[in-house]
This record gives sequence, structure tokens and C-alpha cells, in this order.
Amino acid sequence: MTPRVLAVLGCLLFLLLWAEGREKARRLQTPEKKATRESKPWVAQGMGRKAKLVSPKPLPKVKSPMNSTAAPSAGKPPASILSQVVARGQFQKVPESLALRAGDALELRCRGRAVRWRYPAHLQDDEEGRLRVKHYAKFSQLLVVNATAADTGEYSCWSLQCQDSPCQEGEDRTGKTFVFFADPQELFVPTEDYYEVVQLRTNRPTLLPCQVTSPLARVTLHREFPPEEVPVDGRDISYDVRRGFTIHRSRPSYAGSLFCMASLGGVRQISTKYMLVYINYPSSAPKPTVRASGTSARVGENFNVTCTVLGEPEVAVDFTWEYPGQKVGRPPYVRERTDLVRRGGQVRQEAESTLYVDEARDVDAGLYTCRAENLEGSASAATCVRVLPAPRGGQPG
Ligand SMILES: *[C@@H]1O[C@H](CO)[C@@H](O)[C@H](O)[C@H]1NC(C)=O
Ligand SMILES: *[C@@H]1O[C@H](CO)[C@@H](O)[C@H](O)[C@H]1NC(C)=O
Ligand SMILES: *[C@@H]1O[C@H](CO)[C@@H](O)[C@H](O)[C@H]1NC(C)=O
Repeated sequence: MTPRVLAVLGCLLFLLLWAEGREKARRLQTPEKKATRESKPWVAQGMGRKAKLVSPKPLPKVKSPMNSTAAPSAGKPPASILSQVVARGQFQKVPESLALRAGDALELRCRGRAVRWRYPAHLQDDEEGRLRVKHYAKFSQLLVVNATAADTGEYSCWSLQCQDSPCQEGEDRTGKTFVFFADPQELFVPTEDYYEVVQLRTNRPTLLPCQVTSPLARVTLHREFPPEEVPVDGRDISYDVRRGFTIHRSRPSYAGSLFCMASLGGVRQISTKYMLVYINYPSSAPKPTVRASGTSARVGENFNVTCTVLGEPEVAVDFTWEYPGQKVGRPPYVRERTDLVRRGGQVRQEAESTLYVDEARDVDAGLYTCRAENLEGSASAATCVRVLPAPRGGQPG
């Protein structure tokens, strides 16, 4: 085999391995990217954080007085493994939410042999020993004593497996409830920060987590400058007594300082302030395509490799290159441009990065990889360029 054939084969093999590696990387990457700040208040024990995005579409009508604790759900709810201990030896099924008072105790039991709990992050740092979790043969007990407003939140449990135990077909093996610990002095669940910077992304809902400690509190949303109440119509912005306000459709006009106001029993308080920063997020990571001016170049010739990303206008795309000449310190000679183009009746942005190789040498043969990155993620594309010996007989002319 001639060295040239070897070089071509080597390049092909490289491309193959690279494509495989890229696929792997993508599979590994995807779930990580999904983490949102919405998962922040909860602590997962023995389980990765599970972030769930609110879908921007289904927007049921908001019930304006948020006073129903056990919201009646249509049909029979599945049997929960979670129950509340209301008195010694006396249990009751937990409703969707429980309204207790600061100072009260909460005792929950979860059926199963290997039970895990999830509770508000605040209790994780509990230093006074107010939280106690005890595992027994067939159930686990969670006890919170001298509860405070900050203990307000979701409490859930799940049973890991049920080998050796009579696991009934179709049995629901998780349970959760939202517990309010009302405190007349603390209408909002206390947070550490006086204000919080919140990204108002164009591609996903934004949560303003001003949680109240009583489901009876009346909560409104306000702008600081100019001082005004922000209308909450349940479509663009909705309110959930257990989560706070969700902005479903981001608009630049929502940017600025917002806060929530709660009133109950003659007391009125404001929440943490949220500094909303509008960010034009792309709907997805870029999908670059890469092409060389030719699949091969002769020694001494110029060639270029162009990486193109078609996407939404006004979304910044960063390009980085890996190329064979890097190893010997060939200076990168790159030019970038962005244009608006019309595709299928839509205005799209075409971002391009071109890597120029002047006077090709043998070291320039190989794989040219372009990595394109935007706020949603990154992806790579590559192409192989062969370098052929200069034609015999020198330059024409
Ligand atoms: C609670 O909600 C019901 C309707 O769901 C309403 O009739 C009642 O007046 C409300 N009570 C309070 C205290 O807001
Ligand atoms: C709970 O409060 C009571 C009375 O205020 C106190 O005696 C007890 O030590 C507290 N328990 C914990 C674990 O803080
Ligand atoms: C790349 O090289 C080809 C051939 O030399 C040339 O026609 C083309 O204009 C170059 N592309 C860019 C973006 O400069």
C-alpha cells in the first residue's frame, strides 16, 4: 500500500471513530442540560436531581381564591404509600396539601422496605435535630418537630424495590404532599437572599418562586419601577400557591425588578425581589454542517473549510476549530460572518465560520472539526481533507 492510500484509510477510520464518540458524548450530555433552577428548593436523597419543566401550553383557568387545600381531583386517586400520623396509632391518607401551623409537628409514614424521602432543602441543613427519619422493616417514618415557615414545601417518598415483599400489581410506589406551615409573621417562605437574579428565557417558562406559608394568603405580582401591579391572567403568567408565579411567555417588557405581595389577616408582606434579565435563548443547540472547498488539495494550494449553522436570528453562535495543522502550530486563519436568509418563508440566521489553509502542506491532511455553541448547547461536525503531492513539472504558467 502506498503512503497516500494509508493516509486516506487512516482519515476514514478517524472520521468513523469521531462520529461514534460524538454520538456517545451527545447521549451523555442531554439529561445534564435539562437541570433548571426549578429543582433547586428540593433535595433529592440518593437520587439524581429531577427537574421537571412546566409545559408552556396547557394553561387551565386559575382559581382565584387559593383556599382549597385538598384540591378535589377527578376520579379515584391511586392508593398512596404515604400517610400522615394524626395521633398515636391513628393514620390518615395525605391529601394533595396539608395546612399546618408553624410550631406544629409533622409525622409521615411511607410504606415499603427501602424508602427514600425528599423534603425542602432547608431541612437538610437542620442543626437543631428537628428532622428525624427512621427506617423500619416495612415502613419509614419522617418526623419534623417545632416546624417553621421555612419547612413549607413538598414532602415525598418512594420505595425503591419490593423484592421479597408482596408488591401488588399496579401499586403506586410513590407518595407526596405539599405541607404549609403558616406563620402570621412570615407570609412567604423565608429565603436567604434579599434579591435573586432570574433569567427570563425565551425558550422556557420562568418561575418566580415566591411561596407562601398559608394557602389562604392572597398573592399579587408587582413591578418595582414604575410601581405597578402586574396583571396575572393565567395564560401568560399564572400563579400556583405551591410554587409561585410562572411566566409562560417571556417578553422583554417583563424584564426588571419584580416582587410578590401577600396579604392575610391584615398582614401584608413582600417577597424576595426578582431581577428579571431577558435573554434571547435559542430553542435548541446548533446543528452545524461542515464542508471543505475540496475533498483534497495539492501541496502548495490554498483551501478552506466552512462550518455553517442555520438557526434563529439574534442568537449568538461561537465556533471553535480543531484541525491537523494545530499540532505544528499552524496559525488559525478564520473568518466569521452572520447573515439573515429566507428559508421556507421564514427569516433565519446563517452563521458561518471559515478556516483558511494557505499553501497546503502534508501536515494539513486530516480531520477538520468545527464545534458550534449557543446558549442551549453545542455540537460538532467534521470533514476530512487529503493533501496530494504537488503536480510534477512545477507551476503552470
Ligand atoms: C374558598 O373557596 C370557595 C370556592 O372554592 C369560596 O366559596 C369560599 O368563599 C372561599 N373561602 C375563603 C375563606 O376564601
Ligand atoms: C421544640 O420546642 C420545645 C418547646 O419550645 C423545646 O422544648 C424542644 O427542645 C424543641 N425541640 C427541638 C428538637 O428543637
Ligand atoms: C474557499 O475556497 C474556494 C476555492 O478556492 C473559493 O471558491 C471560495 O470562495 C472559498 N470560500 C470562502 C468562504 O472564502
